[in-house]
Amino acid sequence: MTLPVPQPPVTPIEWTGTWRDGALRILDQTRLPRHEMVVDHNEPETVIEDIQRLAVRGAPVLGIVGAYALVLAARRILAKDPAITRPEFLTRFEVDATKVADARPTAVNLPAAVARGLDLVHNTPGSPEQLCDALLSSARALDAYERDACAKIGVAGAEWLRGRKRFVTHCNAGALVTTGLGTALAPLYVLQEAGEAPHVWVDETRPLLQGLRLTAYELGKGGVDHAVISDGVAAGLMRRGMIDAAITGADRVCANGDVVNKIGTYPLALAAQSHGIPFVVAIPLSTLDPNTPEGDAVPIEQRPDDADIYLTEGTAAHDLSVHAPAFDVTPASMVSALVSELGVLEAPNAENLGPWRARVPGAQSGSAPGR
Ligand code: MRU
Repeated sequence: MTLPVPQPPVTPIEWTGTWRDGALRILDQTRLPRHEMVVDHNEPETVIEDIQRLAVRGAPVLGIVGAYALVLAARRILAKDPAITRPEFLTRFEVDATKVADARPTAVNLPAAVARGLDLVHNTPGSPEQLCDALLSSARALDAYERDACAKIGVAGAEWLRGRKRFVTHCNAGALVTTGLGTALAPLYVLQEAGEAPHVWVDETRPLLQGLRLTAYELGKGGVDHAVISDGVAAGLMRRGMIDAAITGADRVCANGDVVNKIGTYPLALAAQSHGIPFVVAIPLSTLDPNTPEGDAVPIEQRPDDADIYLTEGTAAHDLSVHAPAFDVTPASMVSALVSELGVLEAPNAENLGPWRARVPGAQSGSAPGR
């Protein structure tokens, strides 16, 4: 029997209208959970700012937002110069596209989506108007593809995890990072819908608290039982037999299966391995990077080396010295199972990931959106 897929509990982004009159609507995740504030964007620069200040974040949605930002860039070029030639349009578009791709370094989805937009404009014949139209169709296709991928990840992951009740997750890899149910949280929403009543331990995720602020918010909306723990708690819960599986998303999975994800993922994997608990990673194929051989080759975003992110008034000196990498690398050998829209791959490695790498959207035939 196919497991039921619920509706996503929250919508992080949405394109409204046509390429001529539409806007990119973004739910500001920096204001969550207290305020649900949406802002309509009409310029690529404000989208880039929102990416950089983490108003919109998480690998898959960064790719989708990047694709829509290209529509905004293309539209503006045309609005400023309605008689622009195609070659001049392409030159200006490339400048804007590069800025979008460079907004954040670690999640592969963003540069991959921009590369795909650039391929599209170079390979689609026609006027700048027709290119704007093609860019919006392509962004919408990616948006729909990722939504569908989440449902498949949810079902495949839930089938694999079925029978387990108590989970731990790190950072936020739910509906807020996609246009669907999410990646790591998708199987948990599906288990909930199937009446399995999972319980989720939510790592608060220092220093920016994506777990505390965002995962707890959306699990609450989705009716999934959960409790927030500080990042050091999970290992002790595992030792006491209180966790049946750990599940996270990823910003990038390398060709050899190494997982680059939010700082603190690696310690969680170490704890899971040490206690014989499955460590599961859920991604859409657009997060698999066939061109990067291993985790150490991935650019790791560094948060500013100032104390601000740690400061709660009175808790730390203002001249505190800080080291704040935003992501870490979990070696493939520590991953029990990788879940994607293609299904579940146990013990991923350079060899057995080959068929998935070949199916990375757009890598070969361009038949599926995403790259
Ligand atoms: O810095 P963030 O909040 O963008 O980091 C996000 C994560 O690390 C997520 O776990 C990752 O992108 C997976 S989301 C499917």
